[in-house]
Amino acid sequence: MIRRGALRSLVLRSLSVAYAALGLDRWYGRVLLFSRDVTASPPAIGADLPLELRDLTEDEIGGFCRARPDVGEADVRRRLDAGYRCLVSRSGERIVGEIWLVTGEVWHSALKRPIRLAPSDVYVYNSFVIPELRGRNLGTARSRLLGERLCAEGYRRMVYTVAPHNRPGLGPSAKLGAERLGSLGYVRVGSLQLDFARLHEGGFNWTRRGRAGTNALSLPTAS
Ligand SMILES: CC(C)(COP(=O)(O)OP(=O)(O)OC[C@H]1O[C@@H](n2cnc3c(N)ncnc32)[C@H](O)[C@@H]1OP(=O)(O)O)[C@@H](O)C(=O)NCCC(=O)NCCS
Repeated sequence: MIRRGALRSLVLRSLSVAYAALGLDRWYGRVLLFSRDVTASPPAIGADLPLELRDLTEDEIGGFCRARPDVGEADVRRRLDAGYRCLVSRSGERIVGEIWLVTGEVWHSALKRPIRLAPSDVYVYNSFVIPELRGRNLGTARSRLLGERLCAEGYRRMVYTVAPHNRPGLGPSAKLGAERLGSLGYVRVGSLQLDFARLHEGGFNWTRRGRAGTNALSLPTAS
């Protein structure tokens, strides 16, 4: 049986792959920006499998990369060395996904632009659940667990972006009541590069990219 919405999801994802394959993302791109207050309790949504979140440590990198062959070991080491954190989701001993965390300033690879975070913010990216367990609330339960962990560590907000066509990526945000802060994107015409931020607080603004090619964005602080 085909999941409700799975066909629409597949069509949107295929269109987005074709869009990137045709190189159209050189001219225009947009992501949705979300935040979730980790000091507030979200709805009690759990998964039907036990779930545990653990920081990836140096001696576990080999095992992690064997379980996730599409993740390169050199890339994992480079990110950990740069101070990024990887939280691995396990169900029993089985690795069922991972999520990466950054604080301070993050380079957004799709926007090709740095985002500056407040000290109480954590940026969350590369959220992954193994394909055979998707759509069973593991991503939502993991985000919930992550929020509890971050709150205990003294953070106030998790921030992340999702591509507008990524329906499974939008599911956990909707279920946990994340706040949509707005959308971020760029338009490029020849050598003219304009970044835009349409934030619910702060309206719509365009900024022209400087010669260095960077245009750091500071996010609105938590209310
Ligand atoms: C995004 C991702 C982490 C979500 O994990 P998950 O365990 O599938 O998440 P959940 O089951 O908690 O929620 C997924 C939502 O998508 C819906 N969905 C529909 N088809 C789905 C599919 N084929 N697979 C997964 N979810 C699907 C689910 O029904 C659910 O939404 P709903 O509750 O409104 O119906 C996972 O799908 C994934 O790893 N995707 C590939 C990487 C990616 O896109 N990461 C996100 C970057 S922002």
